[in-house]
Amino acid sequence: MTKIEINNVSMNFEVEESSTSALHKIYLHLEDGEFVSIIGPSGCGKSTLIDIIAGLKKPTQGTVIVGNREVTGPGPDLGIVFQDYSLFPWMTAYENLRFAIEHTNENLEPKEIVEKSKKYLDIVGLSKFANKFPNTLSGGMRQRLAIARMFATDPKVFLMDEPFGALDALNRVHMQDLLIYLWSRGDKRETTLYVTHDVDEAILLSDRIVVMTPSPGQIKEIIDIKFERPRCRNDIVKCAEYIRLRSNLLSLLNEEMLDALAEQEKHMRDLV
Ligand SMILES: Nc1ncnc2c1ncn2[C@@H]1O[C@H](COP(=O)(O)OP(=O)(O)OP(=O)(O)O)[C@@H](O)[C@H]1O
Ligand SMILES: [Mg+2]
Repeated sequence: MTKIEINNVSMNFEVEESSTSALHKIYLHLEDGEFVSIIGPSGCGKSTLIDIIAGLKKPTQGTVIVGNREVTGPGPDLGIVFQDYSLFPWMTAYENLRFAIEHTNENLEPKEIVEKSKKYLDIVGLSKFANKFPNTLSGGMRQRLAIARMFATDPKVFLMDEPFGALDALNRVHMQDLLIYLWSRGDKRETTLYVTHDVDEAILLSDRIVVMTPSPGQIKEIIDIKFERPRCRNDIVKCAEYIRLRSNLLSLLNEEMLDALAEQEKHMRDLV
């Protein structure tokens, strides 16, 4: 059972004289196998929350529990796709994958590691680019490589921070389908926290969508998405319920964006 429990988490960043409150009293529980998306304005603390769950940042207040473990540092059961991909620039695409597989699954034979690395490169359509270094790949290819790396390590929890942001529309659709396929392979679904700016993507993928307020990020609303799975994108977009959900989400986000923009404008006026 891999539940995620975020209990009363707040995060302040103290840099020199100034303090930024990035998250304020976040309380969110994900059930085993649940797919939850987070959506909210830029700077509302989405990546900070992912880093805290991954054990890469310690919250100023509150606790995170993954499975039965209180998170105090990074663990192998968590698979992460970072917003900036975080690939090793000195390793080829193949070596990036092999390294991740080797270090998260010490029981595999060398032959199995090679096979698995190749299989996941193939799954994301990068076999031809196995020997390329990340700086010679396009943004979308780097993103696909980061996604392959996460899947290849068989994590119990997926933490994904705008993983498809740099993909063109066609690749995005392909990767969304692949994600859902890998998420629900076998009879076990992996607990997933997924950050996106894309309302349609959030509805298609999620069991629940968490809408956040601008800085300091707080949970504004949590919306249940009850469409049966498997979901067919061409069918659900025609449902009245889809149109209602989409417009509700967009107006919630618009309120937040307008507040954030007004705040930013006031700050700029104070500066000049
Ligand atoms: N290491 C840090 N030091 C100081 N402030 C930070 C640090 N990391 C993040 N912040 C601040 O915390 C807030 C939340 O940042 P975060 O990156 O989590 O936002 P986000 O919701 O992921 O934004 P985006 O949608 O643009 O990716 C911002 O105000 C940011 O400036
Ligand atoms: Mg972010």
